[in-house]
Amino acid sequence: MKVLSGIQPTGRFHWGNYFGAIRQYIDLQDNEQAFYFIADYHALTTVREPEILKGYVRDAALDLLALGLKPEQATLFRQSDVPEVTELTWLLMTVTQMHLLEKCHAYKDKKAKGIAADAGLFTYPVLMAADILLYDSDTVPVGLDQVQHIEVTRDIASRFNNIYGVEALKLPNAKVVESAAKVPGTDGEKMSKSYNNTIELFDTPKRIKKKINAVKTDSSGVEDKKNPETCAVFDLYKLFATEDQQAELAERYRTGGMGYGEAKKLVNAAADEHFAEARERREQLEQNPDTLEDILRDGAGRARAVACEVLDRVRSACGL
Ligand code: ADP
Ligand code: TRP
Repeated sequence: MKVLSGIQPTGRFHWGNYFGAIRQYIDLQDNEQAFYFIADYHALTTVREPEILKGYVRDAALDLLALGLKPEQATLFRQSDVPEVTELTWLLMTVTQMHLLEKCHAYKDKKAKGIAADAGLFTYPVLMAADILLYDSDTVPVGLDQVQHIEVTRDIASRFNNIYGVEALKLPNAKVVESAAKVPGTDGEKMSKSYNNTIELFDTPKRIKKKINAVKTDSSGVEDKKNPETCAVFDLYKLFATEDQQAELAERYRTGGMGYGEAKKLVNAAADEHFAEARERREQLEQNPDTLEDILRDGAGRARAVACEVLDRVRSACGL
């Protein structure tokens, strides 16, 4: 089974990204073939500062490797290192019906807000289809918000195959990752970089502590009984704790006599421990920028070999 997924370098990764997506992607790396890429072409629809983009790409690669992606097992590459994907995008564009793209939410949401959308944002799903089809991917692990794009990919691929009467493109399946539901941010809403409520994975310990301390709680006092089911601090604790640890803390909430400050300390300690090894690995990698470049270059080489074969097949199907 061939697994492929991409992640956009549009900011520093946070706990929501890790528990909602990255962790599951990494768990799938033992498959026969796993391809993971940093979607920098896609990021251009939002990040327009070259140096900032480069920094995000580098951080994304460092984060993924630190969090356990094994480059000898999974192929890690930068999307733009395989420019063949843009040619496939064009070939697919010629068979993509406008109505398919008009209903896609990224574009629709922007339009509904009265913001002018660029052609890049409108055709974003076609580039994503090319990402997937270029590697004959079977399974694409994604968050729920991306399932629509996999359906579009399947529609485009079957239309192409129908028009040219060949099975040139393989239809992929989405694998919706069982996310840690919705990781709450410091304001209790869904953690997202657009809401300015994130706890970044590799921020300084001091800032992480500060962010955890800022998580919104109700105004009950230390002695009051508390409800773990409606508490963002408890939700964050669940990400790191075993069932027994969760039950123990829940009991303390219900009994009263424990303040939110103490629960926050537990979250901080648990997170610290959970990411300690990754933090160390990241620091080591950071000191060896050449190693990082080698990994990405090697990944691009492996990815490109597959991409060129598939692209040849598609070109010849349409008479090029
Ligand atoms: P952001 O909302 O910060 O811009 P992205 O949309 O780039 O994050 O998220 C990439 C992936 O990370 C998403 O597909 C989703 O699966 C996951 N993700 C992001 N935020 C959360 C969250 N708060 N809880 C669970 N999963 C999340
Ligand atoms: N659009 C995806 C996201 O925002 C990122 C992405 C780009 C992707 N190309 C992909 C995901 C191909 C899976 C497969 O999260």
